[in-house]
Amino acid sequence: MKKLIFATNNAHKLEEVRAMLEPQYSIISLDEIGCHDDIPETADTLEGNALIKAKYIFDKYGLDCFADDTGLEIDALNGEPGVYSARYAGEACIPEDNIKKVLQLLGDNADRNARFRTSIALILEGKIHYFEGKVEGYIESSPKGEQGFGYDPIFTPQGYDKSFAQLSAGEKNEISHRGLAIKKLVEFLQH
Ligand code: IMP
Repeated sequence: MKKLIFATNNAHKLEEVRAMLEPQYSIISLDEIGCHDDIPETADTLEGNALIKAKYIFDKYGLDCFADDTGLEIDALNGEPGVYSARYAGEACIPEDNIKKVLQLLGDNADRNARFRTSIALILEGKIHYFEGKVEGYIESSPKGEQGFGYDPIFTPQGYDKSFAQLSAGEKNEISHRGLAIKKLVEFLQH
């Protein structure tokens, strides 16, 4: 089985990605290679941050690896929180704080269009490749559902009447930003 480092320790992401890439690839987390460094995500684009993370691992360990960065882009908030999605409500915030901030800023604005966008940077044999996935949808007026993570309870994908947090992991992977980006990565790795 080929080994690929996924430059993350996010258990939700690892589970999603392993479900799509195993058994062809063994996906190794940062914990599993003993990397506990706090890799700074200082770029102002998703692509830039994905590359920073992948390059950090490649430079330090010389291993084939990929990293992702995801943002929720809300039209009525001029694309925010975007690249700042993780810490939108402040450095030490929890997902519920971010959700609260989004709902407060949106208020009863009728334009609730939004999308999740994921950029993946893969470094394979020293060469950089990018893959993008996005899913259009809208922001609910209040959180719905218990599955998933992050902004899932307030994001409903287009054509659905359930938020991401009301879909099973399998249903979400089929249509999600990260699922689509990973599918492109998988197709690339298989050909
Ligand atoms: P990351 O930099 O890729 O970890 O993503 C930044 C932030 O976007 C995370 O901290 C989450 O708040 C949010 N996020 C990323 N992926 C998802 C998802 O699939 N559902 C909901 N929120 C997500």
